[in-house]
Amino acid sequence: KPRLFSGMQPSAESLHLGNYIGALLSWKALQETHDAFFFLADMHAITVPQDPVALRENTRRTAAQYIAAGIDPSKSTLFVQSQVPAHAQLAWVLNTLTGFGEASRMTQFKDKAAKQGADSASVGLFTYPILQAGDILLYQAAEVPVGEDQRQHIELTRDLATRFNSRFGETFRIPEPYILKETAKIFDLQNPQSKMSKSSESPAGIVWLLDDAKTTAKKIMRAVTDADGQIIFDRDAKPGVANLLTIFSVLGEIPIATLEADFAGRGYGDLKKALVDVVEASLGPVRARTLELLADPTELDRILAANADRANEVASATLADVYDKVGFLPRS
Ligand code: TYM
Repeated sequence: KPRLFSGMQPSAESLHLGNYIGALLSWKALQETHDAFFFLADMHAITVPQDPVALRENTRRTAAQYIAAGIDPSKSTLFVQSQVPAHAQLAWVLNTLTGFGEASRMTQFKDKAAKQGADSASVGLFTYPILQAGDILLYQAAEVPVGEDQRQHIELTRDLATRFNSRFGETFRIPEPYILKETAKIFDLQNPQSKMSKSSESPAGIVWLLDDAKTTAKKIMRAVTDADGQIIFDRDAKPGVANLLTIFSVLGEIPIATLEADFAGRGYGDLKKALVDVVEASLGPVRARTLELLADPTELDRILAANADRANEVASATLADVYDKVGFLPRS
């Protein structure tokens, strides 16, 4: 089976509908055909300030949501980044191969640094993409399923792997980005031009996986649409309606054209009411299962530790090869 690697930052209490549709649903399908590694990027999360108690709790909560959404820790390797030391160790070596100018061109760094004020951004935020390259290369991943926003980081990963291989000899597999389809991109319910994101300015525009059914229903019923009144899919002219149809289509497993036909001549209220049911049918069980898993944190920690052992076997073999190739003295 081809090796696959991906992950998210455990930087909020709950994942949102964008993470669920854009990442978790495709990961769940891909784990059947791939030797999949999914991790919680807690070392990436601390590149911006995190409260330690909240970080630990959010790491467990995010792991529980992965499992509740269908990532099976006996099929896939589901682990926490900081529990596998090779991530930090490989990042150091890759840091020394990355040009300062090359790192300075990363658009996500520029965006995040601008938000924080350039001088208060950490060096960790600057080297974030290099740590990410190491994540992927440690597992010799063939494919990396991510959203469009991560494309530049995968390009850097490929460049660094190619550079290392040509300088020190064949070591890393060059990974292919597996950019998830545009239909997997979910937009903010209040501001349907921008993607649903943890850092959004409109709390009413984000559907959190762990929101209760009532809160979720309210957010959907209040979603921004338009004045035209027609239920047709047109991303440019009708971004709000297009977003609702996308969510409906993915979660209800109904083609968009069928939805357009079913709802022809009906109002947005009807569409939203039906969507509330479809969303609850998907998220309700995920929410319930997450809470069950969180009720036994010891068992959850045990699963993560066992999976970290599995990850560590693969990662430490790659790291040993890298250390040898760059000329580090073996410890006898
Ligand atoms: P992160 O935590 O920002 O996002 C996790 C995944 O969720 C997807 N996503 C969305 N998909 C559809 N609609 C949305 N509104 C939406 N919002 C987020 C993202 O595309 C992403 O796939 N740098 C990474 C974490 C990382 C990583 C890695 C990923 C660290 N090392 C190695 C892959 C491989 C990040 O910040 O993801």
